[in-house]
Amino acid sequence: MIEIDPLRKAAAEVLRRNDRGEFTAPSPRQYPHLWLWDAGFTALGWAALGDFERAYREVRAALRGQWRNGMLPHVVFYGWPSAYFPGADLWRSDLAPEAPTDLPTSGITQPPVLGFVIQILFQHDPDRQRASAFAREAFPALRAYHRWLHTARDPEGIGLSRIVHPWESGMDNSPLWDAPLSRVQTEGLPPYQRADVHWVHEEQRPRSIEYDRFLALILHLRSHRYGESGVRSSPFRVYDVLFNALRHRSEEALFVMAQALGEPTGEIEEWLERSRAAFQTRLWDPELGFFLDWDCGTDRRIPVIAAGGLVALYAGLATPDQAKEMVDRHLRNPKAFAPNGGTRYLVPTVSKADPGWEPRRYWRGPIWINLNALIAYGLARYGFHELAEEIHRHTLALIAQSGFHEYYDPRTGEGLGIGDFTWSAALLLGWDLLSG
Ligand code: GLC
Repeated sequence: MIEIDPLRKAAAEVLRRNDRGEFTAPSPRQYPHLWLWDAGFTALGWAALGDFERAYREVRAALRGQWRNGMLPHVVFYGWPSAYFPGADLWRSDLAPEAPTDLPTSGITQPPVLGFVIQILFQHDPDRQRASAFAREAFPALRAYHRWLHTARDPEGIGLSRIVHPWESGMDNSPLWDAPLSRVQTEGLPPYQRADVHWVHEEQRPRSIEYDRFLALILHLRSHRYGESGVRSSPFRVYDVLFNALRHRSEEALFVMAQALGEPTGEIEEWLERSRAAFQTRLWDPELGFFLDWDCGTDRRIPVIAAGGLVALYAGLATPDQAKEMVDRHLRNPKAFAPNGGTRYLVPTVSKADPGWEPRRYWRGPIWINLNALIAYGLARYGFHELAEEIHRHTLALIAQSGFHEYYDPRTGEGLGIGDFTWSAALLLGWDLLSG
């Protein structure tokens, strides 16, 4: 039996150690600035500790990076300069007319989690006046962000937002991107030095060919001042299941918030309807029985079974039959996600049956706590309570064995990547809050 209290105490200490006052660094050494979806998970950790003021400060810090067109950037460079690469000097947000002038940021976004995070904070803050005041403050910024996701990132109005860089998915080097990334040209890329492999062994990080392509994509978008022409002509354009499922979940939350605040709901209802339809017509793959990403470059689904597909359940986007098929054929299948002689823990980021599966390399196989939490609550939403509990138990076992690592080897439970990772601690604390 795992004792939860000492784990909670240790998690609170990680949050406090990584607290930079204005924001909480995902890791003060490896990631010393603010990351968008990290900020959302971190706010839940502060709320679970009862510190709602601190949780609101985290969300505010992310919103302060907002561009005039509504985009929320994936990195806000508080604390710049630092040794982080690629830093503000490479991104050059000052070239974009929409970017804030007082604070450097990156020029791409990350999974839209803040919508459901503010709803959770609103529901749980015991100080009702403070809760309403904050909701009123944050709602317009989030509505503007989602409008941007539905226009700039969905120019054809199909109901899904495209990502134009793997980092926008949060799952940097997933096998999902192998095919679309292979079309990114890297000739003429200026020489550069990676900083990430200074802290973590390179076998646990993206390969250099991927890094070249990550940078080439940034330089492409930058040469278009992060405007629409760069998005249109990007060699990497994907409708990602995880990204769009979190967008949908956040829009469910914005709908509830709009009702609570007496704001109009029509636009949000339309968003919800369109993405529900698009998940069925475009992302559900009847042959594989799973939600798959869509490659706009080839106009085809990407045949990679990744844990992000299961997050469709968190947004209620599967029919009950689809949910059952995903669980029976994939999640409970020892050849895919379930433990067998080789792996012991749920949920590896990629199906073990995928040829791209690598159990120690970042987003190509290891277990990440944020995906575990989102998948567990997705399962609970569809009535798979035992499986949800099992994922929770595995998550606690990983943390008890190896501490608050960035990710974990699903075979041994060994902690990989950087240690003292903020969202692993924040989600241990905030796990129950995710149920909404
Ligand atoms: C890595 C992860 C990304 C995360 C960031 C900060 O880039 O892939 O998902 O947001 O680190 O923790």
